[in-house]
Amino acid sequence: MAAITLISGSTLGSAEYVAEHLETLLQQDGLTTALLHDPELDALPLSGIWLVVTSTHGAGELPDNLQPLYEAIASQLPDLSAVRYGAVGLGNHEYDLFCGAIRQFDALLQRCGAQRIGDRLEIDVLQHEIPEDPAGEWIAGWKVLI
Ligand SMILES: Cc1cc2nc3c(=O)[nH]c(=O)nc-3n(C[C@H](O)[C@H](O)[C@H](O)COP(=O)(O)O)c2cc1C
Repeated sequence: MAAITLISGSTLGSAEYVAEHLETLLQQDGLTTALLHDPELDALPLSGIWLVVTSTHGAGELPDNLQPLYEAIASQLPDLSAVRYGAVGLGNHEYDLFCGAIRQFDALLQRCGAQRIGDRLEIDVLQHEIPEDPAGEWIAGWKVLI
């Protein structure tokens, strides 16, 4: 059975709730999961499946809790060729850099050799009052690809 490491980046809680919702849905399918809110590179398995769920803050920036992991990966450039991952972003299209955080994270993981599973999901919180809804629809398609 696949084990999935969920990594959540959130400032005000919305992305964290989405990550928790997706974890629940994956567990209901019998998948084994671990959800990390303050992930450190040393604590992450460098193989298997990751699911990154992050909002964007500042001007297209990562939430504070995800920034250290991003910087650790960017400076160490670990070999992530044994990692496959999903990417979910929350943002607001009125900002110039819509979903900038997940786009940055996605690009960095690919630079390290990780392979994305399926398309990146970018949820516009102005269009979706309940971001768990589009996330739940997306995960139904994603999980058949893993
Ligand atoms: C100060 C601030 C800056 C933001 N900057 C961006 C941005 O640059 N790009 C974007 O797409 N969304 C931006 N957003 C929207 C947030 O990503 C969105 O509200 C999200 O739902 C917050 O999720 P969270 O509660 O997990 O942090 C910003 C929101 C705030 C409050």
